[in-house]
Amino acid sequence: MDSQRLVKTAQALVAQGKGILAADESSGTIKRRFDSINVESTEENRRNYREMLFRTAGVEEFISGVILFDETIRQNGADGTRMVNVLSDRGIIPGIKVDTGTIPLPEAPDELVTEGLDGLRNRLKEYEELGAGFTKWRAVISISDSTPTSYGLNANAHALARFAALSQEAGLVPIVEPEVLRDGDHDIDRCFEVTEDTLREVFDQLAQQKVLLEGMLLKPSMVISGGSAAKRAGPEEVAERTIACFKRALPASVPGVVFLSGGEPDDSVTSNLNALNQQADGANAPWELSFSFGRSLQGAPLAAWAGKAENTEAAALAFYTRARLTGAARLGKYVPED
Ligand code: 13P
Repeated sequence: MDSQRLVKTAQALVAQGKGILAADESSGTIKRRFDSINVESTEENRRNYREMLFRTAGVEEFISGVILFDETIRQNGADGTRMVNVLSDRGIIPGIKVDTGTIPLPEAPDELVTEGLDGLRNRLKEYEELGAGFTKWRAVISISDSTPTSYGLNANAHALARFAALSQEAGLVPIVEPEVLRDGDHDIDRCFEVTEDTLREVFDQLAQQKVLLEGMLLKPSMVISGGSAAKRAGPEEVAERTIACFKRALPASVPGVVFLSGGEPDDSVTSNLNALNQQADGANAPWELSFSFGRSLQGAPLAAWAGKAENTEAAALAFYTRARLTGAARLGKYVPED
């Protein structure tokens, strides 16, 4: 394992004021996003949309890396430049989603497990040759009266750790994503409890499978109230509870946390990230607290683009604005704008 290379990449991804754009929507997910703006999900439309994001002037000030889907890492832009080079020429590190999605966990009603380990060693070697610097694997944990079970947590954590170990072997920084879904009307205490259990199981498996903590990043959800909870906790409480939870279960040697946005409204998730960074020093949080947002960085530009070439400039401006505001929250300096 090339520890020095892994540590350097992990640190670059969570550099001050910067975070990650998740643009790794699978074929099904990008189709749903395009359906929402009445645009057909063709290879050309996907390329045009993503190329607009990647070429947006100035976003390299706020974006350290971009997570790609398999199609994009092999794709060329409109002028023939490889999409990977569009990013790396501006100092943005290309990454790749390597899981192949979720299936129902056997004998576990309402729980999912993530697939993609078969043949992963060879795929990672190819992705490294194609220019990736890091990888991502998403596990999904749902909160209900009966979930998660210890079986569900264990199965998902085991797969996350196998993925992480194989990534590091290939010289790629693993982004370990145990997403605790926001769906449900549970309160923030229940989210705290499930997040703590999840992180304990994940870091137990990472240790057993000899993953170098200094050469990985964690992509968690924030500790928040359920999306349909009657009373939802505000940013100060979210930040306090998230840091308190992580202090119990997240080793200090992990260099950074890159939160997902999870379908939380833009202003709410940006305010939460801002409060986290405002509280980090006072609370002696040892990790960088950054972002790896999909929806919260892309919702506004996707709507502005609407599949029309003449909207490219407006869409790029919408993306730049979301990146700038999220970058400000990364520094604890977010001021909401209209
Ligand atoms: P969201 O920020 O939209 O939750 O997406 C992040 C991601 O990459 C989920 O795997």
